[in-house]
Amino acid sequence: MKNLVVLTGAGISAESGISTFRDAGGLWEQYAIEDVATPKGWMKNKKLVTEFYNQRRKQLLHVKPNYGHIGLAELEKLFYVSIITQNVDNLHERAGSSYIVHLHGELTKVRSEKDEDLIYDLTPDRYEVKIGDLCEKGSQLRPHIVWFGEPVPLMEEAIDITKQADILVVIGTSLNVYPAAGLLYYVQTNTPIFLIDPNDVSIKRPNVHIIKKKASEGVKDLIKLLKEQYT
Ligand code: APR
Repeated sequence: MKNLVVLTGAGISAESGISTFRDAGGLWEQYAIEDVATPKGWMKNKKLVTEFYNQRRKQLLHVKPNYGHIGLAELEKLFYVSIITQNVDNLHERAGSSYIVHLHGELTKVRSEKDEDLIYDLTPDRYEVKIGDLCEKGSQLRPHIVWFGEPVPLMEEAIDITKQADILVVIGTSLNVYPAAGLLYYVQTNTPIFLIDPNDVSIKRPNVHIIKKKASEGVKDLIKLLKEQYT
């Protein structure tokens, strides 16, 4: 079976009801990045940041995967599928995908602000974090999220996976944020790239097949094309 590598961004979860970051009405129009998604914002106001992520977690309880996520899980019957997602939601897991790299962290986890190896799972009945919730060594718990200005610990793993792609699929990302967007430059030049997005996304690579649709419709088309061309 061929290696199918999929890079996803906020757009794949848009039809599930989670807003993207940079579209009109997106999250970064409502909140200042520096307040809620930087180490500086955390140091300035831990309560505000904690509440922001509690809200995102609460939203997760009310949304479901859409066919974009589900179709990618179904593709495991035909390909070795690796998902590299910039999303911090758990919709790929809930759709049934088995191999997922969360480049920017996960909403359903928290970690010690002093020891990055002390990571804890939150559960749907206990998703809220409070100031004063501590790790076993007595430090405040912070979101297990990669903020702007922080290293991306899973980047090396993502690069290795991307290098081995026979086919790359990019869904619902504006490709504005690095190093994630730089992954595209690790695919072999002859590797076909399928890009699913209802809007124009600038992608300077050869061999790009654009499917200008929302994720759920776009993944349907993708599956059809992949079946015709690669199975
Ligand atoms: N289906 C597919 N794509 C869609 C849909 C949809 N239904 N709706 C919107 N999109 C596309 C937009 O056209 C845009 O290209 O999704 C993309 C969303 O881009 P961004 O909001 O910039 O999200 P993303 O690329 O995931 O952001 C990267 O930035 O703020 C940080 O850490 C955050 O992981 C995030 C990173």
